[in-house]
Amino acid sequence: MTNLDNLAVSQQDGILTVTVNRPDKLNALSIKTLEELKTVMQHVYDTPAVRGVVVTGAGEKAFVAGADIAEFTGMNEVNSRKFAENGQEIFAMIENCPRPVVAAVNGFALGGGCELAMACHLRVAVETAKFGQPEVNLGIIPGYGGTQRLTQLVGKAKALEWMMTADMVPATEAHRHGLVNHTVPTQADLMPKTLEILNKILSKAPVAIEMVIGCVNAVYNKGENGYQTEANAFSICCKTEDFKEGTKAFLEKRPARFQGK
Ligand code: COA
Repeated sequence: MTNLDNLAVSQQDGILTVTVNRPDKLNALSIKTLEELKTVMQHVYDTPAVRGVVVTGAGEKAFVAGADIAEFTGMNEVNSRKFAENGQEIFAMIENCPRPVVAAVNGFALGGGCELAMACHLRVAVETAKFGQPEVNLGIIPGYGGTQRLTQLVGKAKALEWMMTADMVPATEAHRHGLVNHTVPTQADLMPKTLEILNKILSKAPVAIEMVIGCVNAVYNKGENGYQTEANAFSICCKTEDFKEGTKAFLEKRPARFQGK
């Protein structure tokens, strides 16, 4: 992964931290930034040594303040559809990633930024962060899956209210409504809390974690029978060495040593 201009990527202990890095533009998602995100997600899919991912924004002001509005000028009826489909495809790579992806929301998560956070499996946010889908202020709607995922996370009433009013929602309120998993009081607490949760997940059996992600995503996939998906996933887990190790460790009253196979 070379030539990343708008993302900073670092890896430690199997956790890849992806930082959207355009702080002077509040980390707005330009098309190039999105393409880089696609490259990084493909790397995650191709690299089992990446066991988990954190997505965050550079600086203390913004996670991501939306798609790059400066790039909207040439948008028309035809290329806007491709624009939305491209973003949706990249965010689906995050949502369907077989390894856990956690958003560490350090500031404004607006428009495409809120959509990016929602595509991640979990969200940890500093209390001063603000969430919102303010696209109607610009005469458009969310295009990177926001209408769907916000409704899934907070329910129809709040999703409609927040998208139609374009309100900026404080992280504490977003937490009350299920958009955010955990809030932390200060920026200094954000990464420790995010890593605490991610490391707890990484201490479990990796194949089981992958199956949980797939089965929960199946709830929202209209063509899929989630109960069948769950039964298949359950039997896949039962084929693994980690299943044998997990049950053996329980009976031997010791911590399990999972190997991801
Ligand atoms: N796209 C492109 N540039 C953006 C941006 C976006 N989504 N959000 C912020 N920026 C840029 C600003 O244009 C400004 O650039 P400049 O210094 O070259 O003029 C810089 O980031 C700082 O933003 P600014 O608006 O001056 O900061 P602020 O503290 O006054 O306001 C926000 C912060 C988040 C309230 C405001 O930037 C905003 O409303 N952004 C757009 C949010 C949005 O509508 N997102 C959905 C897009 S679909």
